[in-house]
Amino acid sequence: MIPALNAWTLDALPRLNNAVLAGDSPCESLTDALSDGVLPRLPADVGALPAADARRLTVLLGMWGSACVRHFVQSGRVTQTGTGAVFARLDVHGRGFRDYLGEVAARTGAGHPDRDTYVSYFHWNPPTVRVDYVGQHWCAPGVFEDGLLRTHTGDDRERELLLFVKSAEAVELAANDLIEPLLTEDLPPADRIERMTAAAVLLGAVHRIFAAFTRLPAERRMTPEFFTDTWRQYTNHWEPGDYPPSGAADAEFIARDLILGVDVPDYLSYVRRLFPALLPDGRARLTRLMGATPLPALVLARTGVTPDDLHGAAPDKLLAIAEQHPELAACYLLLAENVRVATAHLNFARRFVFDLRRTRDADGTPDTVVMSSRIGSTGIRESFMDELKNGRRRHPLTAFERVPRARLATLVGAGRPAGPDPVVSVGA
Ligand code: HEM
Repeated sequence: MIPALNAWTLDALPRLNNAVLAGDSPCESLTDALSDGVLPRLPADVGALPAADARRLTVLLGMWGSACVRHFVQSGRVTQTGTGAVFARLDVHGRGFRDYLGEVAARTGAGHPDRDTYVSYFHWNPPTVRVDYVGQHWCAPGVFEDGLLRTHTGDDRERELLLFVKSAEAVELAANDLIEPLLTEDLPPADRIERMTAAAVLLGAVHRIFAAFTRLPAERRMTPEFFTDTWRQYTNHWEPGDYPPSGAADAEFIARDLILGVDVPDYLSYVRRLFPALLPDGRARLTRLMGATPLPALVLARTGVTPDDLHGAAPDKLLAIAEQHPELAACYLLLAENVRVATAHLNFARRFVFDLRRTRDADGTPDTVVMSSRIGSTGIRESFMDELKNGRRRHPLTAFERVPRARLATLVGAGRPAGPDPVVSVGA
């Protein structure tokens, strides 16, 4: 039963979606196709559904729901706050669509809610992503074993986006895994330096994944119009204030902020506001990290160097401090890579969403109907994203920006500024 539903999602869903967007079919063509041929094939009794199957169905049901909402809201048939009328068309064995999805989601064992999420769309949907680096291995598993990506559009640009987000997340996970123990464990200095240096190389790889995304061949390369008008309208609200799939719910990104520290007033309140977008595991992980002293403060305390010693020091003096305390150099290199990733990400948000909106505002083009392009789907604004990026840059070791990076890299024994590239592989 699931293979057939999966095959329908891979093939018919994008076809129907595209026909509605092209104006060739009405919105009802999608809800009718689901009601007539798809929903009746779902298991009536979900009580015995294995967790892996429940995760697969949660991905599929979530995408179907978001596609229906998008078309009915975009066509003006329902308002953004009136999506109940869309779901009322989708009866599943006598149950409401969201009630049924809620039952399936409960069987995932992951505390998943009754809608699609970052986890179902970006994490469970794509194939497994593996990261191999200096003899260590990490894995971000997918729940389908077909090596395929389920998309709303059937377009390679959406497939590349899914792979991009999941690959970045997998490498972030590897970096976090190396540095998180430094917050609590008293490891030997050489080990501490090695972990921070390796994590810096991994974040460098995340940055390269961002750069590679912009250099794909033209037919697979993301454009602002496709991102904003076509793809992003499928990541929509099912009810006011809920959380559609968004990179903002990437728990590894937030975990890194908590490990490295971010100088933004009340950052923890922001993270707590995101909690409904995360699953219980992600929430528990972040809650554990919330009380921790960030890594740069721990490293400074261990060396006895104070921020005042660094502030205003000349490059030679800074280099001498780094020679005496290579741990500071390793920590700085890690923070510098984190800043590069944060800056690249903000540039992406501007390039693919906010700049396009500004150009359109200037020529009087109305905002996108389903998901506004003036605000993030988690409710955050561009100005706050800028504040977050600046908060990541304003770390206690910024003074080392005045020292050539290659000198610091040599000091920590990286031998070369970048180190070998981690291997990111997709699929079994
Ligand atoms: C084409 C690629 C991407 C674009 C255009 C993009 C755009 C955006 C936008 C517009 C927001 C604010 C929206 C919201 O509230 O949901 C956002 C937030 C966020 N995104 Fe992305 N994103 C992209 C890829 C990624 C990737 C790969 C990651 C993870 C590595 C990520 C992580 C985040 C995080 C953590 C936030 C919260 C703001 C912050 O902490 O800086 N995004 N993104």
